[in-house]
Amino acid sequence: MVPQPITFALTVALAGFGSASPIQPKVGTFTVSQVSNVNFKAHGPAQLAKTLLKYGASVPDGLAQNMANRDAARIAARSSGSAQANPEQHDIQYLTPIQIGTPPQTVNVDFDSGSSDLWVFSSETPADSIKGQAVYDPKKSKTAEEVKGASWEITYGDKSSSSGVVYRDAVTVGNITVKGQAVEAATTVSAQFTRDANNDGLFGLAFSALNTVHPKQELTWFDHAAKELDHPVWTADLKYHKAGTYDFGVINKSKYAGKISYIDVDSSNGFWMFNMSGYSVGNSTFKPAQFQGIADTGTTLALLPAQVVKDYYKAVSGAKIDYFQGGYVFPCNAKLPNFVLGVGQAKVSIPGKYVNYAPIDVAGKTCFGGIQSDDDVGFSIIGDVALKAAFVVFDATAGKPRLGWASKQL
Ligand SMILES: *[C@@H]1O[C@H](CO)[C@@H](O)[C@H](O)[C@H]1NC(C)=O
Ligand SMILES: *[C@@H]1O[C@H](CO)[C@@H](O)[C@H](O)[C@H]1NC(C)=O
Ligand SMILES: *[C@@H]1O[C@H](CO)[C@@H](O)[C@H](O)[C@H]1NC(C)=O
Ligand SMILES: *[C@@H]1O[C@H](CO)[C@@H](O)[C@H](O)[C@H]1NC(C)=O
Repeated sequence: MVPQPITFALTVALAGFGSASPIQPKVGTFTVSQVSNVNFKAHGPAQLAKTLLKYGASVPDGLAQNMANRDAARIAARSSGSAQANPEQHDIQYLTPIQIGTPPQTVNVDFDSGSSDLWVFSSETPADSIKGQAVYDPKKSKTAEEVKGASWEITYGDKSSSSGVVYRDAVTVGNITVKGQAVEAATTVSAQFTRDANNDGLFGLAFSALNTVHPKQELTWFDHAAKELDHPVWTADLKYHKAGTYDFGVINKSKYAGKISYIDVDSSNGFWMFNMSGYSVGNSTFKPAQFQGIADTGTTLALLPAQVVKDYYKAVSGAKIDYFQGGYVFPCNAKLPNFVLGVGQAKVSIPGKYVNYAPIDVAGKTCFGGIQSDDDVGFSIIGDVALKAAFVVFDATAGKPRLGWASKQL
């Protein structure tokens, strides 16, 4: 039996909203809404390759070749001037606005619970690496201060990376401002970031242990802000094919149904890592199975153990592994069963349609699966395809972090 002091405290606090309450909220709680990346175009194999690289896993040969061909096609299109007719495919579907500096400069960033750096395109990013991104200019902020001698670097596998210098400045999300937040200004970004014109950077929401600033590591925005919040929690209410919301400091009862089921988190490696208890496919009986994974809002797909994934696609007629796409594909008109993931006492049911990630061909005949194998990553990655099916609480209570899962209206 897991004690639930936070839930209890929240119930009391919520009951007190709007009336004279003995519980004084601190700065409080707030909601931020995502915005759509208008240039987004879904491409499943590219998402898979990106995720494997993010976690240092090897990209299967066929998929690597496919990605190289796409890059070549892009360069060819650009030099023949037909880039317009051949829209770029972007990685991040939804972004969230934050404000940096005084007066505030707004940038749209990817909220990523799988990393711990807040990095942005900046006035120090080479002009030829910027393709429409909003940049943070520390010279235009009265509150910016350079952190002398500090640098950062994030590598996604060995292919792509971003790196740069560090400032401290005021960073506002919703209505909470953290003064002196480390803002990592990019001096180099890899091509995949340059291509995504609307994505101005990343906002890390994993544990500060993963922060890459050296020689002295920095705290994440959330670790600073937690002191100002009523409770050290944030919640993700991500949606299928629409923008979702992130709440900070509050668990909003109107966003889920039933009760929240909590599972302990092992944050020793900096991730929101937890154990799954099993799974079922469609209406088949639940299969107990223990496997570790991380909750990653910055990953689009769900990567699960190969055997689990195989079991799922056995129930999809026409599904097969496509060497060149690096994962499972199926006819776009296939009927997909729900996939049920066991998390503690909860069973998170991912509707079949969520698992139809996107077509891989112009004709829209063959589709790429939203559930793929975690191959040699070493753990599962519970990305947006799965997170969208639940209301998820990221509770960073010191010493006993945990994740809460509740069902919601889909
Ligand atoms: C922040 O916004 C929330 C609503 O979104 C409000 O309840 C809270 O009082 C605000 N806090 C401050 C300090 O303005
Ligand atoms: C909870 O969410 C609902 C629906 O999004 C919103 O109207 C309400 O203001 C939120 N309540 C709090 C306390 O944030
Ligand atoms: C998952 O379970 C294993 C075996 O019981 C345990 O060693 C490990 O710490 C657990 N992982 C997490 C993230 O709780
Ligand atoms: C699974 O159960 C639901 C509800 O009982 C039913 O509507 C659906 O047809 C069943 N699916 C299959 C594949 O049997």
